[in-house]
Amino acid sequence: MLPNLIDQYCEKHTTSPSPLLAELLRETHLKTLAPQMASGHLQGTFLRFISRMIQPSSVLEIGSFTGYATLCLLEGLAPKGMIHTIEVNEELAYLIRKYINLAGAATQVKLHIGDAKKIIPTIEDTYDLVFIDAGKMHYPQYYDLVIDRVNPGGYILADNVLWDGKVVRMEKDRDSEILDHFNKKIHQDPRVENVLLPIRDGLMLARKLE
Ligand SMILES: C[S@@+](CC[C@H](N)C(=O)[O-])C[C@H]1O[C@@H](n2cnc3c(N)ncnc32)[C@H](O)[C@@H]1O
Repeated sequence: MLPNLIDQYCEKHTTSPSPLLAELLRETHLKTLAPQMASGHLQGTFLRFISRMIQPSSVLEIGSFTGYATLCLLEGLAPKGMIHTIEVNEELAYLIRKYINLAGAATQVKLHIGDAKKIIPTIEDTYDLVFIDAGKMHYPQYYDLVIDRVNPGGYILADNVLWDGKVVRMEKDRDSEILDHFNKKIHQDPRVENVLLPIRDGLMLARKLE
């Protein structure tokens, strides 16, 4: 069976997204040039499950895009918890804010507009869950910036780590090389245990040891 047929089959047999998430995805398709960047139904539901299982008090998302994953992560957030989400493209701010407000989460989600590499050091918080999903070239740097801010027993998730399967090729382009380096870096880091899942474009899960 072709991988995209498997993806379609998995989506078909996964709980449907809420009307708000469906509307956000529709508007993402209407108003952005690369709507496939949003986590979407299958991965979004997986993130929602992870968040519900962890019930994090504090979350950091690096790369909000239109806020699809933000709303999924919100569903497991502990009462009085906070999500910090960082997006460099200020033109997306209105869409992200619109859906945060529609979700009634204006006090639970703080949107930071700017370069994550500059913003992460300025946020005074520690995290139970970090979702790395911005520029792939900077994944190792994002990891180094957040690892000391992850609480013991906390999690780091990173999206697109298989890069369309290119990480296993002998001849790698620059992005694949960096993602391959990132995967090895996490796998060899004694501070964490990890599992690399072939969900969508590859999702790395690392748990900081206590
Ligand atoms: C794959 S999308 C994020 C998708 C979103 N997390 C979701 O699952 O729906 C990546 C986003 O990261 C943003 N981005 C890229 N480089 C960034 C940086 N240095 N700082 C903050 N955001 C960045 C891009 O503008 C883009 O909107």
